[in-house]
Amino acid sequence: MTDQIRRQLPIVGVAKVSHGRDRMTCLYRCGNACDHAVPNGSDNEYFGDLVKNEVTRRGVLRTGAAGAVALGLGGAAMLSGTPAFAAEAPPALPPVADLHATTPQTTNLTFKAVAPNRVDALVVPNGYDHSVVIRWGDPVVPGAPRFDVRNQSVAAQLKQFGYNNDFVAVLPLDRKGDRALLVCNHEYTNEDLMFPNFVSQDALTVEQIKIAMAAHGMSVVEVERVGKTGQYELVTNGRRPYNRRLTTLQTHFRLTGPAAGSALLKTAADRTGTDVIGTMNNCAGGVTPWGTILSGEENFNQYFVGAETSTGDAKARFTRYGIDTVNRYPSGSRKWERADERFDLTKNPNEANRFGWVVEFDPFTPGSTPRKHTAMGRFKHEGANIIKARDGRAVAYMGDDERFDYLYKFVSDKKIDGRNNSEARRHNLTLLESGTLYVAKLGYTSATEIDGSGKLPTDGAFNGTGMWIPLVKGGKSMVDGMTVEEVLVFTRLAGDKVGATKLDRPEDVEPNPVNRKIYAALTNNTNRGVGTNPAADEANPRNANKHGHILEITEDNDDHTGTTFTWRVPIVCGDPTDPATYFMGYDKTKVSPISCPDNVAFDGAGNLWISTDGNALGSNDGLFATPLEGPEAGHLKQFLSVPYGAETCGPWITEDNKSVFVAVQHPGEISGASVANPASNWPDGDFAKPGIAVTWSVTNKNIGA
Ligand code: FEO
Ligand code: CA
Ligand code: CA
Ligand code: CA
Repeated sequence: MTDQIRRQLPIVGVAKVSHGRDRMTCLYRCGNACDHAVPNGSDNEYFGDLVKNEVTRRGVLRTGAAGAVALGLGGAAMLSGTPAFAAEAPPALPPVADLHATTPQTTNLTFKAVAPNRVDALVVPNGYDHSVVIRWGDPVVPGAPRFDVRNQSVAAQLKQFGYNNDFVAVLPLDRKGDRALLVCNHEYTNEDLMFPNFVSQDALTVEQIKIAMAAHGMSVVEVERVGKTGQYELVTNGRRPYNRRLTTLQTHFRLTGPAAGSALLKTAADRTGTDVIGTMNNCAGGVTPWGTILSGEENFNQYFVGAETSTGDAKARFTRYGIDTVNRYPSGSRKWERADERFDLTKNPNEANRFGWVVEFDPFTPGSTPRKHTAMGRFKHEGANIIKARDGRAVAYMGDDERFDYLYKFVSDKKIDGRNNSEARRHNLTLLESGTLYVAKLGYTSATEIDGSGKLPTDGAFNGTGMWIPLVKGGKSMVDGMTVEEVLVFTRLAGDKVGATKLDRPEDVEPNPVNRKIYAALTNNTNRGVGTNPAADEANPRNANKHGHILEITEDNDDHTGTTFTWRVPIVCGDPTDPATYFMGYDKTKVSPISCPDNVAFDGAGNLWISTDGNALGSNDGLFATPLEGPEAGHLKQFLSVPYGAETCGPWITEDNKSVFVAVQHPGEISGASVANPASNWPDGDFAKPGIAVTWSVTNKNIGA
């Protein structure tokens, strides 16, 4: 144990809320969402019987064991060397899943689990090492000034690495991945921890507010491997033509799809309803098979003020999206309206409609215009992840991270073109602009046995069947009383009308490229079964759910474009000594405690990796891994823990399975902390800076092996 680990941390405010997050994180991350009424006040009809009828009609309750098949892109290798800059855009890079399929599948998860702890360090298992790749303020764009916390400016921040990271992707620039692009989201800022002598949001200068806007968004930086190890470092010399910042302050995004240009999206500054400045609160994301990045705009609601003056439908819509309609103007915690009146809904009532989308962005084409796809619906998008369906279409799975909100999928109208040429590339960039949008409705096998305690039903599983209910299909609204534009801009209300299943905060949702099943992290929901809120059901089996669970979906006949599926809950999180936990039936004495699953990822063997946010067991957040098949299925072990006050994000496992990147989001975010009195000294020994670290085996084994 290092001195840094042993060192006593300064004691600052102890202000945990019931679900384990610090008060300060609640304020900055989601605008104190938990203190507000649950936005979903819909009285969804119980559709268990309807689904059961569907099952009867199909004649069988399938267990849905699809064979393990590797994801491919029509056999196209699509490998390219270092892209050269010419008039032509560089070709799409190798699809991640293709490389997985050709990599030896030897990730056996033999590492010794890291023990739960509260130390201020990134802790990895014996035999592994780690290093910091990039942190807040590091230069991104050539010419960026050195970071100086006491001399910050908008001009500097626009060229430097932004604040807090959630999503991380590492995309190879060469065949071996020795050079790569690291692409990440900057989800939110914490002005308490950014600015020395911070007093209050009201006391911030306009320059400081604009620095915060510039510290939101995304970054692209070039990284390179250190020797033949799994370590990566930032490339700091040379041209670095891909290095780029996307920000809330300056970057233009083009709206695409059926709602682009709608009256609902027009503002005084953009009379076309197609051109939005900025992306914000980008949480998780994904990489498409054609080499672009998807990024979810999540808790955008907290940045807007002025909705309390709204009435009628407008008020109902703001309320459903968690935009404060109660507190007296100006209500929001961010105060961005002081720097830009776009964030004042009394002046720009449609501006909030221009956030909450899935962003698609091509990191391999410098200067490319990022887009927001209206066809994929508007909600608090955690992220979006795509699998190629058997018929070649792109299918995106998406969670809406709110208590009692829904799970969605989008099926493109057109098929992926697997060729490696500019025509295919142009085609693939249109795939997410038209398609069918569905919301999930789950049926149960043991409905009457669910008592909210987490006790397994007599059939031995929390499981059932489900249906994907279309919201928009063939360019037409499938929801009574709502136009296509209304369904896409107010998707939550459309989900309410069709009786979608209320879930315990669906966060990251990702297809496993090896077994082709879908895994959703349901983080927690301490309101489940409390007061007038809906009680536990088979898919959300615990009342006052503090620790969350994982939902697994198996599409019938491995048809990701279809409308029926089976599901189960393979993992119910918590302390394994708690009887209300479940780890695929594995011996719980060997399992690591886990709380609040947030992001999921898969290694080349298809093992499930889970990062956590807001450990309600009192330990630091971490990264965990478990096999999903065979005798070790459910043997979940902690692979690393992040420093005090931080959340574990990413994660990203490189295509060769040698390295895992994690984002250390909001280290030291503990009420009462500041630049002068930090609660964490990670990573540089002074004040806390969020950033991204990489972990690798010192004996060059595969990650987790
Ligand atoms: Fe950004 Fe849903 O967590
Ligand atoms: Ca059951
Ligand atoms: Ca998340
Ligand atoms: Ca997160």
